[in-house]
Amino acid sequence: MTQNAERFLDEHLPRFRAELYDFLRIPSVSAKAEHDGDTSEAARWLADRLEDAGLAASVLDTDGHPVVLGEWREAGPEAPTVLVYGHYDVQPAEPLEEWTSPPFEPTERDGRIYARGSADDKGQLYMHVKALETLLSTRGDLPVNVVVLAEGEEEVGSPNLVPFVEAHLDRLSCDLVVISDTGMFAEGLPSLLFSLRGLAYFEIHVRGAKSDLHSGEYGGAVANPGNALAKIVASLHDAEGRVAIDGFYDDVLEWDAETRAGIAALPHDDEAFKRDLGVRELAGERGYSTLERVWIRPSCDVNGLLCGYTGEGAKTVLPSKAMAKVSFRLVPDQSDARVREQLEAHVRKVAPPAVDVTVKALHGGRPWRANIDGPAFEAAAEALEEAFGTEPVAMGGGGSIPIVVEFEERLGAPALLVGFSLPGCNLHAPDEWLSIENYEKGIGALVALYEKLARLA
Ligand code: BES
Ligand code: MN
Ligand code: MN
Repeated sequence: MTQNAERFLDEHLPRFRAELYDFLRIPSVSAKAEHDGDTSEAARWLADRLEDAGLAASVLDTDGHPVVLGEWREAGPEAPTVLVYGHYDVQPAEPLEEWTSPPFEPTERDGRIYARGSADDKGQLYMHVKALETLLSTRGDLPVNVVVLAEGEEEVGSPNLVPFVEAHLDRLSCDLVVISDTGMFAEGLPSLLFSLRGLAYFEIHVRGAKSDLHSGEYGGAVANPGNALAKIVASLHDAEGRVAIDGFYDDVLEWDAETRAGIAALPHDDEAFKRDLGVRELAGERGYSTLERVWIRPSCDVNGLLCGYTGEGAKTVLPSKAMAKVSFRLVPDQSDARVREQLEAHVRKVAPPAVDVTVKALHGGRPWRANIDGPAFEAAAEALEEAFGTEPVAMGGGGSIPIVVEFEERLGAPALLVGFSLPGCNLHAPDEWLSIENYEKGIGALVALYEKLARLA
């Protein structure tokens, strides 16, 4: 980073923080129709800040929440074009009573900004906006052409983004996609991602008798959807912790020894991990370490169960229906469409014949694997080292950003994932936070990254 940029940052960081707080105060919860007005307001707010920073901004309608574009293309046709992607929508804040301070009133405690969206992803998206402002204010231009694309539907599976990308291929054409929507391996240890897991999300519905029944009069003679669903759920894993669905591992790539050695060399401690989570034992696929299990191996989890009487006291009822939300995290080269067929076949095989079972697919996304040898990766490594004083590590991402692979394929450009949230930052949970130090150092790292990306030309 140039001295000018450094001085500008020093001087303007308090304002950069105050602006982020304004962004965080807008409850842009994409999942809830009651917040549609707030979500549009967040889009408008962001577009205005992009304009303030010196980019040409537009808010473009989709069939759902709008897409915000910020463009600056004066670096010339020889200079590379960088597409920055992020999302301005956030997860619902419930359960509200578990927040120490209200989710949409950003509050500083212990060097952290507590608010819904601070880490995922408003804080990280806004770091890019401020890095671009710093460059434009101190140099009068950017070292690269830039298109910022911020969507408002990431947290609901990006249903309208692929059509949007298809409809704007020319406008989005780029040499590199940069995304800050993931985390660092540890405090003080900047990180670059080598993978993301994909997602296949389902509801399994079980139906029995036409209405609830007295469990004394009928229990033992009529199939119970709760029992049946429990049996189905229990059949999803074997004793080795593997997913027990026929064909599930057919498309799972074994990772190279070098990646696995890199993972093993990271400063991870299962004992500390267990303590942090409050669990006695870890669980998972035999033969793989914890980090491998969450980064390069697929998984299957119940996300919710609905059945029968769960209120106070005892109610002797034989419920007529049951439902489970079950999702799979996928790794290369699995596909959510194939997993759907495999799950449907599995359920047909194991479901008791006395109940009706249907599988409904909610959403999916493909897994991503990075090319970590490219010049963009190298530029990012240098930028992170300058800002954090330590060489970055390569890590996997257990979560999913389904659009990453779609960008790569449709735009013909590789993606670079460089994120700044920290372990334990409560993504999607009460008391989500972003480290203030990372917000500030991260902006500096991104300034340096944009400078270095000029050499991709
Ligand atoms: N930023 C996360 C994805 C993420 C988190 C990647 C942590 C790697 C590490 C993103 O906003 C998210 O929550 N994605 C959803 C998927 C989406 C289809 C709802 C997820 O991973 O559950
Ligand atoms: Mn996110
Ligand atoms: Mn998220």
